[in-house]
This record gives sequence, C-alpha cells and structure tokens, in this order.
Amino acid sequence: MKNRPESLERFIRMCSDGWLQGWHEYHGGNLTYRVDKEALKGLILKEDSEWVKLEKQLDNLSGDYFFVTGSGKTMRNAELYPEDALGIIEMDDCGGSYRIVWGLENGGKPTSEIPAHLLCQSVKKEATNGKYRLVYHAHPVNIISLSFVFAPDEVKFTRELWEMEPECAMTFPNGMGVLPWMVPGTEELAEKTGEKMKEYDVVLWAQHGLVVAGEDFDSTFGLMHTVEKGAEILVKTMSMTPGKQVIPTVQNFKDMAEAFHLELPEKFLYEK
Ligand code: 13P
Ligand code: ZN
Repeated sequence: MKNRPESLERFIRMCSDGWLQGWHEYHGGNLTYRVDKEALKGLILKEDSEWVKLEKQLDNLSGDYFFVTGSGKTMRNAELYPEDALGIIEMDDCGGSYRIVWGLENGGKPTSEIPAHLLCQSVKKEATNGKYRLVYHAHPVNIISLSFVFAPDEVKFTRELWEMEPECAMTFPNGMGVLPWMVPGTEELAEKTGEKMKEYDVVLWAQHGLVVAGEDFDSTFGLMHTVEKGAEILVKTMSMTPGKQVIPTVQNFKDMAEAFHLELPEKFLYEK
C-alpha cells in the first residue's frame, strides 16, 4: 500500500516498534497522533458515522483529526491490517464529540483510554502552542516492576532514573509524574493524567504502565524507550546489590545541566 500518508506510515511503524520491544502484550497500550487534515489527502473519509459525545468538552481540539489505535486491537496487527486495528477520528466544531472517519472497520472503537489521550492532547497542544502531537501509552516491564517496590513518589522515581544514565535527565529534564493505581479507561484517570501532563511529559500509572507525550514520532518513542531503559538498569542493579555502590552526585547533575543547558528542578537534586 504505497498511497498511505507519510504520518500514517510513521504511526504504523511506531505501533510495530512498540510491539517488538515487548511493551504491548495482547491489546495492551495505545497511541494517538494529531494529524493535519491536508495530510489525509488520498484517504477516503466517511462522513456518515455517528458522533460520540465526550464527558468533557475540549475546546482547543475543535475540528482536529487524530490517528488512534483501536480498543482491544493488537499493535502487532497495525502493519498487516491498518484499517481494522487503527482509525482516524474527527472532533466536532466545539470539541465535545468525535466520529470515526476512517478505519476501525468491523465495528471497532477507539482505545478505551481515549478520555486520557484527548485530555493529554488538549493540555499539550495548549502548553506547546500546537507543537506536541503524540500521546503514547505502553506497558513496559521494568518501570511497572519498580512501581511495586517504590511508593508512588515522583521525586524518588525521577532521581532514581536520572542516576541510571545521563540520557534520562536529558530526555525528561522536567522529571516524571506518578499516579497510584486507578481503574483503566476512566474519566478520573484521564483527569489526573491531564493534570500531571501540565508539568511533565511522562506519567507513570503505578502497576499499569507509562504515558508519554511528545512532538514527533522519534522523540515520543525515544522518551518511552529512555524511561524503560533507565528502569531496566535500575532493576538489574537492585538485583545485584541491595544498595548502589557508586552514584552520580548532585554536583555531577549540576555540571551536566550547565553543559547541556538543562533546567533541572531543584526538588530532584537533594543531597543523599
Ligand atoms: P485498549 O485496547 O482499549 O487500547 O486498552 C489497552 C490498555 O492498555 C488500557 O490501559
Ligand atoms: Zn494500559
């Protein structure tokens, strides 16, 4: 299928890449991307599907289009059966409802986490002047495992991960938000995640998974990958020794912040 828009190709590749990382058992995880209508040329868009009302009106998403993964669909099938596993939704002109205009054939529906996706999309669109386009939720093993060991404390999680490799502080210099376990797919989870996204680009849903937001496919996937890589190093380290033997100092972080022009919030740079 050569005629697919470039952004849809990238969306499909990201689904496949996440699958290959082992982040998407069965139908775990979901992805949305805000796409410009002009980029959809070449696709035949339906105009007769029913509008689905949202619990919360999101004014700044009025008229927007999103690529979405389907609820209960597998990331693995995005490449092979995109019209079944994925869809495109259009928001109405007040941001209060959406309808499916492409894909999700055979009665499919957007991800059950659509409330969290749309709220995070709205928060990030506002905060970045439209630069951020992606929200990605995955179930990576190591970061989930850590949420059984540490309390849902964002200062603790951020600092522990930052210590694992310099890439962590460079990739999420604002730190990481953490929420305790909540029922998946709920308005409450969406609401709390949206709040956290005002401060962070990455939010941990304890004992469930991660949600990240970003500007483009590489940076968003890269953020997910970096958090999980840091978590993997931490899990391996904790398996070898009850306490780390050597750790970067607060001064190390300050030197790195200066060299790379990072503004690392003071709350994460406490003396141990
Ligand atoms: P969906 O299949 O509805 O996207 O749900 C997967 C998931 O990870 C819920 O948190
Ligand atoms: Zn999930």
